[in-house]
Amino acid sequence: MTDYKAAADAPRSGARSIDARAWQESWDRQQEAFMPDREQRFAAMLDAVAATTGGRPPRLLDLAGGTGTISLRALARFAGADVTVLDQDPVLLAIAGASLRDRGTIVDADLGDPGWRAKLPQEGFDAVLTATALHWLPAERVAALYREVREVLRPGGIFANADHMPEEGLPTLSVKLRDHARAVREARYATGAATSWPDWWKLAAADEFLGPKAIERERIYPSVRHNHEWTPPAAWHVETLRAAGYTEAGILWRGGTDAVVVGLR
Ligand SMILES: C[S@@+](CC[C@H](N)C(=O)[O-])C[C@H]1O[C@@H](n2cnc3c(N)ncnc32)[C@H](O)[C@@H]1O
Repeated sequence: MTDYKAAADAPRSGARSIDARAWQESWDRQQEAFMPDREQRFAAMLDAVAATTGGRPPRLLDLAGGTGTISLRALARFAGADVTVLDQDPVLLAIAGASLRDRGTIVDADLGDPGWRAKLPQEGFDAVLTATALHWLPAERVAALYREVREVLRPGGIFANADHMPEEGLPTLSVKLRDHARAVREARYATGAATSWPDWWKLAAADEFLGPKAIERERIYPSVRHNHEWTPPAAWHVETLRAAGYTEAGILWRGGTDAVVVGLR
């Protein structure tokens, strides 16, 4: 198994920074409480990247990449990978920057604004991968973003979106699966095995280095609940990818009420 965490360096003594490895670890535990099969979806996405690049180190855009989760795994898997993390969260980008250092590019941009592409250092990506993020955007923006992402891919490049995407034909089972997952999660919080989303942000706010960035973050995501969450079925995403001009679009992976949809340029 690949040790992607070895990629997140321990703090340099005397440097006013953060323990990037520890923050990656706690972010992963917090996210895994929502998605116990989180690593499986990442592996499925990176398998698709490997299959479409034929052994060449990929140029990869980690869209709404947060702490650089996907980039760190790509670097551990593909020697020489060229990774760019795009996000607008100052806390998560600080963790991404401290983890990647000179091994990747950080782009601070709002995907709600069609101008995000102008902030990229390059286009022609082999892969644009995103996880657990686009449900923060409204439907019409996601549809437009799918078209914009296609434009930054090389011909034959792959886009993959992992997110909450229930199966259309299973409405009652989807609700039961969601309720069951919530109960399992609450039990984990009760034992202290994982930090909840609000508690993780409290820890970040209390950190000497991340605290000021957490205040900055409040301006970007002002409400306690950042904004609405919109989770259409995977079929909606596949249709929207087709309408956006991808030559192939479909479901790459499914786990419970989550899925990874892909589009090929
Ligand atoms: C739950 S996190 C997932 C981060 C990472 N992909 C992972 O799987 O660990 C959702 C991410 O989407 C980012 N995001 C949400 N809306 C965004 C927007 N309009 N522009 C840029 N990033 C956005 C957030 O800042 C956050 O980093």
